[in-house]
Amino acid sequence: MLILGASVLLLQVFATASATEAERYDTATNVTSRSGKALSIFQIIKFKHDPCPGDGTRQGICHSNAECVALGGKSSGSCANGYGVCCIVALTCGQTTSSNCSYLTQPTNPTGSNMVSVCQYTVCKCTPDVCRIRLDFTTFSIAGPQVGTTFDGAAPLNIGNAIGECSTDSFAMTLSEGHSPSPICGFNTGQHMIYEPSDMCDEATFILGAAAAGVRARNWDIKITQYKCGDEAVAGPPGCLQYFSTDVGRISSYNFPTNSATIGAQTTHLSRQAYSICIRRNEGFCAICYVPSIVPPAPTAADQASYGLDKGAAAVHDLDCRFDYLQIPNAEAFPLPVAMPGTPLTNMIGKQLFCGRIFNVDVAAALPASVCSTTAPFRLGFSTGGGEFTNMATPEKNELMGAPGGIVGFSLDYRQIPC
Ligand SMILES: *[C@@H]1O[C@H](CO)[C@@H](O)[C@H](O)[C@H]1NC(C)=O
Ligand SMILES: *[C@@H]1O[C@H](CO)[C@@H](O)[C@H](O)[C@H]1NC(C)=O
Repeated sequence: MLILGASVLLLQVFATASATEAERYDTATNVTSRSGKALSIFQIIKFKHDPCPGDGTRQGICHSNAECVALGGKSSGSCANGYGVCCIVALTCGQTTSSNCSYLTQPTNPTGSNMVSVCQYTVCKCTPDVCRIRLDFTTFSIAGPQVGTTFDGAAPLNIGNAIGECSTDSFAMTLSEGHSPSPICGFNTGQHMIYEPSDMCDEATFILGAAAAGVRARNWDIKITQYKCGDEAVAGPPGCLQYFSTDVGRISSYNFPTNSATIGAQTTHLSRQAYSICIRRNEGFCAICYVPSIVPPAPTAADQASYGLDKGAAAVHDLDCRFDYLQIPNAEAFPLPVAMPGTPLTNMIGKQLFCGRIFNVDVAAALPASVCSTTAPFRLGFSTGGGEFTNMATPEKNELMGAPGGIVGFSLDYRQIPC
């Protein structure tokens, strides 16, 4: 008998069955001993593939020793009362996983390579009823996109076409069926990505371009967690590439320097992105507000605020945001103009798209402020075009002019507002 998602061991035992944490299923006819106690001749020990502590760095999953070997894993101690091993599955380039909680690894390569190389992993569902797979980038550092440079004054013209393109290194999750997420590159430690896996296996591919002298060493360590259909409260609803479930948190565009307190002049968002970020509306909360995580008192090109998208010197909205923008459904300034809890805004529609250099509902504002929405589910859209506008000598038409520049991308802090 094959039981999916559980290990089954057949043991021959001649001892009185005692209760253990592992579930035991008798198969043999019970033999009644003189003492009147039941004696099992054969027992099937069945235990679930539950997460186990692992080695302190990587989590494992409890499997039988034979299964762990078949999965290409390594035992890090025992589990299920000694009947299983805590199996850690850490893949290197070229390997395949069909295990929950596996890792895609690449140790730091300090020299880099002077040839283009490809590192591909195959990721398969661990059981047929998996609907969402989450990649947690524990470390993720590959060559960044073509950067732009923000200028306080005059900026160069007509150099914007390739800004934001992942033209040296890239990482792509390529699905055999359905819509694959856009490739990413650069620094993404702490970020994550969730996708809907195919019934066939999918490919996770790093392309590493020829490293000129000075290109940073690449390294990554990605944890893969698989979630069953119906686990949306944990894994997020379909179509959300990123998912947050805390009451407060920080959301940043890919390749945002989340490890730095200062947003330098070469901070550059990725081009050709289009995805949704979802935030679980927690019990007792009716609205969500966002504000830039970093706002220096006097922004300069070398010390920018953590929001800058597209053309425009100030706050820009809706039809004026054409290529790079954030989408916040029915967004309003804080405090919200309607009584809580969660009354739908009937008399006003609010702003939908946000771009420009100042994060604010008010186009005349000189400073960023909280932007809020009562529309549930809580969701942010992010969209960027190919390249950046640099064809004119004004911030309204040149994304490199003015601080923050329109090439920055975003890092926003959010908080859910009680009803
Ligand atoms: C064997 O006996 C035990 C204890 O009386 C009982 O719980 C168990 O169901 C029996 N198993 C079978 C296969 O009859
Ligand atoms: C995978 O492991 C996580 C915990 O690490 C668990 O929440 C999830 O349900 C598991 N997925 C499956 C398909 O069993």
